Amino acid sequence: MRYLIGIDLGTSATKTVLFDEEGGIVASASQEYPMYQPQNGWAEQRPEDWRDAALTTITKVVKESGVDKEEIKGLGISGQMHGLVMLDEAGKVIRPSIIWCDQRTAKECEEITEKIGRERLIEITANPALTGFTASKILWVRNHEPENYAKCRHILLPKDYVRYILTGEFATEVSDASGMQLLDVPNRCWSDEVLEKLEIDKNLLAKVYESVEVTGTILPEIAEKTGLSVHTAVVGGAGDNAAAAVGTGIVREGRAFTTIGTSGVVFAHSDKVTIDKKGRVHTFCCAVPGAWHVMGVTQGAGLSLKWFRDNFCQDYINRAKLEGKDAYEYINEDVAEIPVGSNRLIYLPYLMGERTPHLDPDCRGVFFGLSAIHTRKDMLRAVMEGVSYSLKDCNDILKEMGVEVDEMMACGGGGRSPIWRQMLADMYNCKVKTVTAKEGPALGVAILAGVGTGIYESVQAACDKVLKIDKECTPISEHTEKYAAYHKVYQELYPALKNQYKALQEI
Ligand code: XUL
Repeated sequence: MRYLIGIDLGTSATKTVLFDEEGGIVASASQEYPMYQPQNGWAEQRPEDWRDAALTTITKVVKESGVDKEEIKGLGISGQMHGLVMLDEAGKVIRPSIIWCDQRTAKECEEITEKIGRERLIEITANPALTGFTASKILWVRNHEPENYAKCRHILLPKDYVRYILTGEFATEVSDASGMQLLDVPNRCWSDEVLEKLEIDKNLLAKVYESVEVTGTILPEIAEKTGLSVHTAVVGGAGDNAAAAVGTGIVREGRAFTTIGTSGVVFAHSDKVTIDKKGRVHTFCCAVPGAWHVMGVTQGAGLSLKWFRDNFCQDYINRAKLEGKDAYEYINEDVAEIPVGSNRLIYLPYLMGERTPHLDPDCRGVFFGLSAIHTRKDMLRAVMEGVSYSLKDCNDILKEMGVEVDEMMACGGGGRSPIWRQMLADMYNCKVKTVTAKEGPALGVAILAGVGTGIYESVQAACDKVLKIDKECTPISEHTEKYAAYHKVYQELYPALKNQYKALQEI
């Protein structure tokens, strides 16, 4: 039997899974780390935490599984996208990574649009200038920390930093590189025009591969430390959403999935480049060579529920520890007791600003309609519903662009909650399904590693072999109607508050 490793470098934790070539889980380990918020709307993490989490979890799975290291043929890394990692001449981290949900770069986005022109920027990078994307973060460091910029010799994305630790190679791949706003997305290579206009030296950037290509092998000292073989090949891998797409079988035209992780994403595969002229959804290269995807992003999806849990459900966290359970199980039970619409309570999930459809770094979260009748249970349900309204907005824009799907796959931590999946089915008014494999991005990149090392013939063939449909939620028409009425009010709230968000930001 041959084996593959998938590493998923998320925002809350890194998870490493060792799979056999049939997609069966042999061993798995995860390690959490903090996110730092030095100011309202800022978000940073330490690349050294990602490195330590990757090395510890790899070591654990290799040891626990007891498999012959020479049979671990390939390794793939999936990662939170857009984060900026800057390394000096010696390959040392210069400053904490400014990550995907950080919103400090509104001015730099204006600078990018001015230098390149909005239309031309969308033509090349397939997206308007966005605070979450890497280019504006690079300019922010250049504008605010010139001493750090001067020291910088390598710019990497989060998962590509872990690749550098494992292999010593400076490499990236098309799906994650698409989120840097420096890639020519239709042509799948760095854009000389964008780099020249923004005066960013191309030598700072890593070599771009397709997601299934081999980018290097394990360094001897890392092999020694982790128990891996120096022959294990590390493939390009993918950004977390492109990886989750492979892990849920979204690898053909007309297929789509929703993931609820820290962020929430509605993702549709496409064999051609399709761009939303209004820039409300992103177009990126996907992990299937020669294909793309369109996706809408909710900034604070799982993040909203985690925020609520950490601040207002300490009793559940304590109880979960004692009973060996997960606090979200009690939360799901609470939410099931509350009717659709949370007794007229609406939550706007804009804790870290919002992308689709508003592209607004300044907006923030709201509970609307709060009454003395409401309890924590209502608020929990409202949080889940608010995130789902935002995902419905993403789905509606994809529909407007002609992406028609009659079923939606679900994944991510939130996708594992039956009650959250039912909300999606009711709001989208279509079937929502899961696959039996729960490892989404980690399985996705393990599959890519299997393609790169010749175990599978193609990404599609591997998905057909490894993935099986599991549970299915069917929309309940009475709920669909009720949610439609609430969604209308939800949609009217952002425009009503838009100016006040700005005013609050300027105080
Ligand atoms: C996608 C995005 C998030 C991150 C973190 O554009 O910013 O999905 O990848 O999960």
